[in-house]
Amino acid sequence: MAPYTMSGVAVITGAASGMGRATALAFAQEGVTRLVLADLNLDGLHETESLLKQTSSDIKTVAVRTDVSDEASVQNMVDEGVKAFGSIQYCVNSAGITSSPRVKTAEMTAASYDRVLGVNLRGVLVVSASSDPTDAEARAGR
Ligand SMILES: NC(=O)c1ccc[n+]([C@@H]2O[C@H](COP(=O)([O-])OP(=O)(O)OC[C@H]3O[C@@H](n4cnc5c(N)ncnc54)[C@H](O)[C@@H]3O)[C@@H](O)[C@H]2O)c1
Repeated sequence: MAPYTMSGVAVITGAASGMGRATALAFAQEGVTRLVLADLNLDGLHETESLLKQTSSDIKTVAVRTDVSDEASVQNMVDEGVKAFGSIQYCVNSAGITSSPRVKTAEMTAASYDRVLGVNLRGVLVVSASSDPTDAEARAGR
């Protein structure tokens, strides 16, 4: 049996570094050639784009500075991705933060706690809901 190859369009948040960047490279290795890269760090996104394009000349990327905790920012990222590629089939939520400075939970301020939850939890909901394809054709590609 031929090996399974992924196709379709992927949104990856936190794609400027760490696990998000590693996931983008892994997706490219598995056959995904169209990626929407989202992060607060645009310079890091451009580095990820460059690394991706070194893996294959078929790779096409859209890098969008995005704050996953901000619905308007996320909607703009999804709109840019759909404008470039038509639809979205995969969504990986890798954007994340810890408290800064990093402290034990019991030592966190309520404002810092809210910020961490806003990015790590609310951000996942906002990105997943916004990038969920509504058309049957896009769903079939999942
Ligand atoms: N790497 C690990 O072993 C590990 C283990 C457990 C949990 N985590 C958590 O998983 C998450 C990702 O880990 P990582 O190692 O890839 O971290 P990382 O710091 O390398 O990557 C996180 C990315 O998220 C981006 N980001 C932060 N806030 C954002 C926002 N509001 N909107 C958009 N992008 C934002 C950052 O700019 C960064 O590029 C973090 O929350 C981390 O605490 C990581």
